[in-house]
Amino acid sequence: MIGAPVVEVRDLVKVYGGHRGRPAVRAVDGITFAVAGGEFFGFLGPNGAGKTTTIRILATLTRPTSGQARVVGLDVAAAPAQVRARIGLAMQSPAIEGLLTGRENLELIGRLRCVPEPELRRRVAELIELMNLGAAADRYAGTYSGGMKRRLDLASALIHRPEVLFLDEPTEGLDPQSRAALWEELLRINAEGTTMFLTTHYMEEADRLCGRLAIVDEGRIVVDGTPSRLKRDVGEDRVEVALQVVSDALADALVDGGPQDFGVEGVTGLERSPRGLSIAVADARGALPAIVRRLDAAGVVVSGITMREPTLDDVFLRHCGRHIRAEEADRPIELGWM
Ligand SMILES: Nc1ncnc2c1ncn2[C@@H]1O[C@H](COP(=O)(O)OP(=O)(O)OP(=O)(O)O)[C@@H](O)[C@H]1O
Ligand SMILES: [Mg+2]
Repeated sequence: MIGAPVVEVRDLVKVYGGHRGRPAVRAVDGITFAVAGGEFFGFLGPNGAGKTTTIRILATLTRPTSGQARVVGLDVAAAPAQVRARIGLAMQSPAIEGLLTGRENLELIGRLRCVPEPELRRRVAELIELMNLGAAADRYAGTYSGGMKRRLDLASALIHRPEVLFLDEPTEGLDPQSRAALWEELLRINAEGTTMFLTTHYMEEADRLCGRLAIVDEGRIVVDGTPSRLKRDVGEDRVEVALQVVSDALADALVDGGPQDFGVEGVTGLERSPRGLSIAVADARGALPAIVRRLDAAGVVVSGITMREPTLDDVFLRHCGRHIRAEEADRPIELGWM
């Protein structure tokens, strides 16, 4: 599925302002990366990181200050019209016409994109199906919910079968249910062969969708890789064990014995925690049954267990020294409990 590069960026810089006394902002500060055909690539970063600026350059809406960007093999500064004909773009707020039906919106965009009529009718029907808009296709788009408007906007971006789809924060402002539904549509579009370039500041979104991602901060790429690799590099999972009796002497004995005596494969650390025990382990999901059996055999009475895997926020924290979103700082991410 993964093919030749569809997006190639080298030493890209974008400086805003800096003339008539206004301070210069280096929105993009020398980034280099490539996206291969068929990939689902993500640009994850906090507010002001330079995500929208990068997408605007790649979609030929803004010229770079310096550096090079090629999309579908063409230089964006030298051949903007050719690039535009072969890409799809969905920006932060959906661009749809409320006084036309969903179907009419797609037909209009298709005609603007010069899709031939018989092909256009087929394509519109296909996209209505793909985006799950069948029941609403002949209603005014102005009556659509936020999630439906997004899906219609995405369908319009796909009408001319672009080779690559640029998505700037596609689920911003959606409720969790619509967001999850949209994720499914995005994965389906990618599965049909479209290369995806997505920006987001939602870590779960990047984690769920992207086969590979770059974390950006202050105009620079801080680190890149597959989500699982990035998280794995941060460190182990944790299993947090709540004890019926927090001051359990049997639990103290386990901690004193250390991981060696504990004897469960993958466990690298045992500590007391306010609620009981905190166990560092390479693969929490895999080791959980053995950990429970071991605690049981030691006579330790457990009242609850949570697992915590490193998140992309932990990756960001490791590389940038702060959380990607201020509110993440006080929210533990719990993946399961018993
Ligand atoms: N037209 C502009 N003129 C001046 N500065 C700008 C302009 N557009 C963006 N900037 C600045 O460039 C930096 C990067 O902005 P950009 O919109 O690319 O960030 P972003 O990562 O998309 O952020 P967000 O998550 O908030 O959408 C910010 O400091 C922003 O204020
Ligand atoms: Mg933005």
